[in-house]
Amino acid sequence: MQSKDVTIETNELSKVFGGRACVDRLNLKVQAGELYALLGENGAGKTTTINMLTTLLKPTSGSFRICGFDAMKDPEQAKRLFGIVSQDVAIYQELTAYENLKFIADLHGIAKAEANTRIMDLLAKAGLSERLNDRAGEFSGGMQRKLSIAGALLHTPRVLFMDEPTVGLDPASRRQIWASLMDLKKMGVTILLTTHYLEEAELLADRIGIISQGKLSQEGTIDQLRRKVRGIRGIAIRLNKRLGKAELESVLQEIATLSGSKPVYDHVRNTINITQPPDAELVGVLRKLLNWLDANAISFSRLATSEANLEEVFLAIAREEESNSQ
Ligand SMILES: Nc1ncnc2c1ncn2[C@@H]1O[C@H](COP(=O)(O)OP(=O)(O)OP(=O)(O)O)[C@@H](O)[C@H]1O
Ligand SMILES: [Mg+2]
Repeated sequence: MQSKDVTIETNELSKVFGGRACVDRLNLKVQAGELYALLGENGAGKTTTINMLTTLLKPTSGSFRICGFDAMKDPEQAKRLFGIVSQDVAIYQELTAYENLKFIADLHGIAKAEANTRIMDLLAKAGLSERLNDRAGEFSGGMQRKLSIAGALLHTPRVLFMDEPTVGLDPASRRQIWASLMDLKKMGVTILLTTHYLEEAELLADRIGIISQGKLSQEGTIDQLRRKVRGIRGIAIRLNKRLGKAELESVLQEIATLSGSKPVYDHVRNTINITQPPDAELVGVLRKLLNWLDANAISFSRLATSEANLEEVFLAIAREEESNSQ
């Protein structure tokens, strides 16, 4: 039995294409009201997962529940609960914005007066009120995307699946969509989205799952993911001058001794990177480093302590996985 706080739950969900498991025994739990971002490289299995959860694609094995319903046993009931914004915008180019939404309202059997109110409200929220009688085919990519999001929200779903909702949009349109996602979250809508934009996940997601070859390889809040990656918090020292090979070797050796961590030299940036020590030791290590650099007349243009952004965490996780699998 599913806990009532879990809105999306998959149980060993799998899809095999041509003998290859593209989604491989996936166990995913998304809590009520949560925004969960699924990340992963091209071909990792994100769209396949969403297509199964939205009953567009039949799983090879495993099961899932949406708001407690077995969506495969009762797809019609499940469809009332969720909305979909797919990777390819699905709107009718020949119909106007209004007609597109009216068509969807009819599919859901929404009564005429109520449909009209909802359509006008959603078009206003999407900033499309003035274009309601224009053909959707004439809209820009961003406007089409906003129209398809409005369509997904017509029947006031409790759950929203979005496959790369902001792909190909300019920064301003992307921000508008982020703002509307934040509003939906405030209204308690549970959202599962996929994205390649790490800043989007970082900004919006309560939790992030990283899917790799159909398996959930990492999961957590952004802070939890950051902590998982060893050495991701760092100290960077950008040198003013290029050092000769022997001199660089001896500087790296000395920095290793002073900091207690193995430095990594970034040739492109002429920067020495070391793992940041625990907070209690940080100031002491920085002092020792500065004194030594000073005493040896090694000048630097920048010394920074950093916290990794999600991009660095993501790349570090991918590197770790690659080295584990070799
Ligand atoms: N209909 C299909 N027939 C055969 N293979 C498929 C089919 N649909 C997807 N696949 C395969 O499943 C794997 C996962 O594809 P999927 O589209 O789910 O990836 P994705 O994570 O959404 O990637 P992207 O970030 O590029 O959108 C890929 O190897 C893909 O080739
Ligand atoms: Mg995809």
